[in-house]
Amino acid sequence: MTFFEATCTAPVNIAVVKYWGKRDTSLILPTNSSLSVTLSQDQLHSKTTIRASADFTSDRLWLNGIEESIEKNKRLVACLRETRALRAQIEAKDESAPKLSGLKIHICSENNFPTAAGLASSASGYACLVYTLSKLFELPLNASDLSIVARQGSGSACRSLFGGFVAWEMGEKEDGSDSRAVQVAPETHWPDLQALICVVSDEKKGTSSTEGMQLTVKTSALLQHRIKNVVPKRMEEMIAAIHNKDFPRFAELTMQDSNQFHAVCLDTYPPIFYMNDISRAIIRIISEYNKDGIKAAYTFDAGPNAVIYAPQQNMREIYAILSHYFPGHAFEDSLGLKKNDTVHALPQNFDTRVSPVFSQGAVKQILHTKADDGPRVLDSAQYGLLNAEGLPK
Ligand code: DP6
Repeated sequence: MTFFEATCTAPVNIAVVKYWGKRDTSLILPTNSSLSVTLSQDQLHSKTTIRASADFTSDRLWLNGIEESIEKNKRLVACLRETRALRAQIEAKDESAPKLSGLKIHICSENNFPTAAGLASSASGYACLVYTLSKLFELPLNASDLSIVARQGSGSACRSLFGGFVAWEMGEKEDGSDSRAVQVAPETHWPDLQALICVVSDEKKGTSSTEGMQLTVKTSALLQHRIKNVVPKRMEEMIAAIHNKDFPRFAELTMQDSNQFHAVCLDTYPPIFYMNDISRAIIRIISEYNKDGIKAAYTFDAGPNAVIYAPQQNMREIYAILSHYFPGHAFEDSLGLKKNDTVHALPQNFDTRVSPVFSQGAVKQILHTKADDGPRVLDSAQYGLLNAEGLPK
């Protein structure tokens, strides 16, 4: 059978100025601009294969091996509708362009990290979906144009279309045509910046970002202050800190913004708690580590997991401290952090009384990664996720 196919991977991003709140929930237009760092796909990524074929009788989707309904997912439907409409325009202009816009498609997508780890996968997932559709349909769009489509899958997904340091400009227009991601600096600008992701153990089910942020928009007076008086200036300062590779300033702004995001969650009525005792211990530990000068930054999204940003040269020390407080975690040493290192000494002056030592597995896993590139195209014949029949391999 003849078919058309594309396979791509897309990265995770972790915001240092948080997106929290929508002014339009169907177009996914935010109440403030935000900024994130794209993390390496070598450690974390979503991978998607999409095939269009005249032999297919319906659109189908498999996520991590399980078939899911497409029609019930309005956001997915929006991404398909938008990209097909753009393909139809190409076909209308160019007689020789294969008629892909009318063909049914099979989508197969997986994450290389367990969703059970509680790591957000919607950003990399939707970025990958939209990027792969753009390759399949050969859409003549740049990453910023494409981010407008990905944004309609999940807000934070628009930032995963670029590598490095990425701003999502909130825009003003009602149709969302100016609410898009732009690259502030490529990953090569600051190759020294690395991240440790601490997967924190948590029993209870948290409030989803989508629901949580709208409750905040409805009930929090502090959010209005954040939107009007804090974020616009913070965005400018963050962009300057990145351009200057000023880690202490970058770190200070990152921690303050994470704190304020969790403060607006607490100001939501009824309040939303995303951090737990382990998360708060990580804040105390990093604050103690920073007491004589800022060497690391913590940030937390809509869950208890911590992401710690730091220059490469501090990572060994930070890992030693975390290992002291959080024994029994899994660690995949993909960047050679522990190479030739047998001693795990805490820094001199570090006051160990800031937190108790936690029991085995309080932090389940620590992942070491760095700022890296945007979506990648793979060879479908070699790396595709669909077999000859168009079903998951
Ligand atoms: C706390 O992008 O997951 O991670 O647009 O409703 O899909 P939807 O929300 P989502 O929210 C992410 C919120 C955050 C902060 C951030 O990534 O900027």
